[in-house]
Amino acid sequence: MAQDLKQLPAWTALAKHAGAMREVLMRDLFARNPGRFRRFSLRLGEHLLLDYSRNRVTEETMRLLYDLAAARNVAARARAMFAGERINITEGRAVLHTALRNRGNQPVLVDGQDVMPAVNAVLERMRDFVGAVHDGRWRGATGKRIDTVVNIGIGGSDLGPRMVVEALRADRKPGMRPFFVSNVDGADIGWVLAEANPETTLFVIASKTFTTQETMANAASAREWLAGKLGEGAVPNHFVAVSTNEKGVTAFGIDARNMFGFWDWVGGRYSLWSAIGLPIALAIGFEGFEALLCGAHAMDRHFLEAPPDENLPLTLGLIGIWNANFLGFPAVAVIPYDQGLHRFAAHLQQVDMESNGKAVGLDGRAPGVATGPVVFGEPGTNSQHAFFQLIHQGPVPVPVDFIAPLESRKPMGRHHELLLANMLAQGEALMRGKTEVEVRAELATQKISAAAIEALAPHKVFGGNRPSNTILMKSVDPYCLGALTALYEHKVFVQGAVWGINSFDQWGVELGKQLAGDILEAWKALDPGTESESLVELVGRAQQKGRG
Ligand code: F6P
Repeated sequence: MAQDLKQLPAWTALAKHAGAMREVLMRDLFARNPGRFRRFSLRLGEHLLLDYSRNRVTEETMRLLYDLAAARNVAARARAMFAGERINITEGRAVLHTALRNRGNQPVLVDGQDVMPAVNAVLERMRDFVGAVHDGRWRGATGKRIDTVVNIGIGGSDLGPRMVVEALRADRKPGMRPFFVSNVDGADIGWVLAEANPETTLFVIASKTFTTQETMANAASAREWLAGKLGEGAVPNHFVAVSTNEKGVTAFGIDARNMFGFWDWVGGRYSLWSAIGLPIALAIGFEGFEALLCGAHAMDRHFLEAPPDENLPLTLGLIGIWNANFLGFPAVAVIPYDQGLHRFAAHLQQVDMESNGKAVGLDGRAPGVATGPVVFGEPGTNSQHAFFQLIHQGPVPVPVDFIAPLESRKPMGRHHELLLANMLAQGEALMRGKTEVEVRAELATQKISAAAIEALAPHKVFGGNRPSNTILMKSVDPYCLGALTALYEHKVFVQGAVWGINSFDQWGVELGKQLAGDILEAWKALDPGTESESLVELVGRAQQKGRG
């Protein structure tokens, strides 16, 4: 199926159209159509606006892209996902993060069983627990109130909740200090413990599998630290777990009553909506967490119900396909103009690249086209002073998603105007560029020689015609952030569906894990040798042993 993608009439029509569009200048498109911004922007009510007018697209491009989505049954595949079909075929699992935020509460069946009662039961337990921590009914072993929460997890058990907690700083419960530990580098947990008071600290051990090496190592160190300070008997008051693996959790020494469960149909990178969101609720309160779910649910309904040409995730996904597959731009920069969103790109890197970074289709054959783009980003304006040189003048255009709130959650003088002006200027500069004629005219106004103008001019030319989307959100509040995050999840879904790949497995992370285990085993078996043996030699010997 996937191998035939390039032969599909919808694909070949786009390829042909791209030939004609290569020479088209967005400058001209804007000059010819003053209503271009309105025509090529979409809204989710008052909460989100997607402006995709600064892409090299016309009415015809969009019609052909929507035809491609129809030919690839994207809408039917989305309905199958929401309905609980086992679309993750290599793991035989349903993909139901949307059920976690199904605020309408309609039944969602997996093998004839409605999952909603179980989802709601965990949410209720989270509500009770978070309330108890906040109002002091849950206390540390010495009777003190909890004021520090340390989430120990990695990948999806870290990036999503960390991103949200950072973004929603304005909603933080006074007095609560959230920390996140993910790296197996002992410095990560070490520095957090150095700042924590054992009597008032709660550890949330977050791992879907409860076998992940990094998380288990960090959890063991945290436990050792706490037991060392307060005694083994203090552990139950200071440790809770979020996992699908009750056996693993109890074996670690956390009572199942202090475990918040979720299910195999929640992918790690899509799990912030599950109990993995516990540190979010602990940081901002359960009502805030519910508002996050509501925003995501609004995007879910929109994705399912809005017609193609009004559909934000579908359109964002298709614009990405156009840029990657038809114009040949293999990366995407995600640049939030909001300091709170400084971990948004990090979260998205996992959501996008772990989902679609695959060179094999659902049918086991190569899709024959470029798939998962490289995703990276940093907040603006910082990124302007770091890698925007390449984005403006590098040899291969990098499409950019600019994201900004209309209102700041932490207003300071004119800062927000400065921030937004910078963002709008970047999109405009990428689109417009600066021609050699313009550069020469500008240089001519300066007191420099003709020879200097000649030498400088080529360096100051901006090719322009570089694509960007602009996503405006009302503010970075829980509801809008939920909608924004779900927008990107569904964008990734759309692209995976068009490419015909399974966006919900991650076999590519296994080999490294396996080899690290082998090397560790071999290392343990080694005689540390003489003092003169360097670490590099030791590792080399262990690797050799691991290779068998
Ligand atoms: O290594 C990748 C991965 O499996 C991710 O998909 C997942 O989010 C992460 O590891 C953490 O897994 P767990 O929640 O089981 O500890």
